[in-house]
Amino acid sequence: MEKFKTDIERKLFLAAREVRLNSYSPYSNFKVGAALLSHKSGKIYTGTNVENSSYGATICAERSAVVKAISEEGNIEIETLFVVSDANPPSPPCAMCLQVLSQFCKSDTPILLSNLEGDVKRFTFGELLPHPFVL
Ligand code: THU
Repeated sequence: MEKFKTDIERKLFLAAREVRLNSYSPYSNFKVGAALLSHKSGKIYTGTNVENSSYGATICAERSAVVKAISEEGNIEIETLFVVSDANPPSPPCAMCLQVLSQFCKSDTPILLSNLEGDVKRFTFGELLPHPFVL
C-alpha cells in the first residue's frame, strides 16, 4: 500500500493514531482515530469513537472530529480527512458518518484510510458517497 505524499498527511496520520488511543470502546474493542484538516484555518481537529451501553448512541471517530471542528470554527470545509484503525484493509467511514461529512466535504475531498503502520488507502469523498442526501 501507499505511504504519505505530504508532510500534512503524515501529521494527520500521527494525530489520528494518537487520538485513537483515547477511544472509549469497551463493547467492540475497536479503536478508531480521525483527524481532519480545516481549509479555513489550517488547523487539525481530531476525534475518536465513544461507545455507549445503548449501542446506537455510540459516536464514531469521524463525527467526533467534525463536531469538535464546527464547535471551534463554525461552518468549515474539510480539506483532508484521515482515519486510522487496526483493520486491514483500513476501515472506511460508516454510512452515517459519510452523510454527516457530506455537509463539509466536496466530491474531490481526499479521504485517507490507514492501519497503524501508516499504509494508506486513498479515496475521494465522492467515491465513498457518490449520492449524499441533500434537503
Ligand atoms: N466506528 C467509527 O468510529 N467509525 C466508523 O466510521 C466505523 C465504526 C466505531 C463505532 C464503534 O465504536 C466501533 O467502531 C465498532 O463499530
